[in-house]
Amino acid sequence: MAYVTLNRPQALNVYNIQMRDDLYQVLSAVKDDPEVNVVIFKGVGEKAFCAGADLSDFLSAPSPIVARQVRFGRDVWSLFLSIPQPIVAAVHGYVLGSGIEMALCCDIRIASEDAKFGLPEVGLGIIPAAGGTQTLPRAIGVARALEMLLANRRLSSEEAHSMGLVNQVVPKNKLLETAEEVARKIASFDPRAVRNAKQAVLRGLNLSLSEGLDLERRLAAGLRGGRGGRQG
Ligand code: COA
Repeated sequence: MAYVTLNRPQALNVYNIQMRDDLYQVLSAVKDDPEVNVVIFKGVGEKAFCAGADLSDFLSAPSPIVARQVRFGRDVWSLFLSIPQPIVAAVHGYVLGSGIEMALCCDIRIASEDAKFGLPEVGLGIIPAAGGTQTLPRAIGVARALEMLLANRRLSSEEAHSMGLVNQVVPKNKLLETAEEVARKIASFDPRAVRNAKQAVLRGLNLSLSEGLDLERRLAAGLRGGRGGRQG
């Protein structure tokens, strides 16, 4: 089990250029490590999982630099979304902007009761650039995603749960423990079956039903091949 931890609690774990570079390195290492069969993604500090992008970093850079950052940034998010191992997010406090977007790059989201979700970007004259315009509507539906994006609708943890944005809401002192419990359960299964199941679901989202069924057949057959033709 690997842990990825956002660790800038003095600035509410806001996402800056250093964090982007670190995340790229850490996620690359996770992706290539056959010993890692599940990942927990969390933030340190009392107040926030992540309060969004570091406004002093990203919004003050001159535009050619911003353009380069956006390109590089996109690479981080593509990398994040291509991690073959399941990622369990443990989120608390402020989960804003790129905070939500990072959680949406994870597969299972556990929230503490104090979690607050929102996407303030449009009010700042920008739009989410960590995949949120694509991942949020897939998670909670178009109308709800648009309300969050366009009208800065904030969600409590219970609302996020009822909309399917998070899988479970737990007391804050049980957050890590619950995420670890889920992760341990995943880690107890055959990692090839786990990876194939994740791949079938996530890749299938972008396919027609018949293409998706074909993908599922191939991934299932790949596993059976490795197990001497066993069915199931
Ligand atoms: N970029 C840079 N620094 C940030 C930040 C951001 N997005 N959000 C918070 N910080 C810093 C604050 O400047 C402050 O630093 P300081 O102690 O050196 O002054 C520290 O984090 C704590 O934030 P503070 O505002 O004092 O905490 P709070 O509990 O009063 O308010 C928020 C919390 C989340 C409501 C408030 O910080 C906020 O609205 N942040 C901006 C959220 C946002 O728009 N994110 C961008 C999304 S693209």
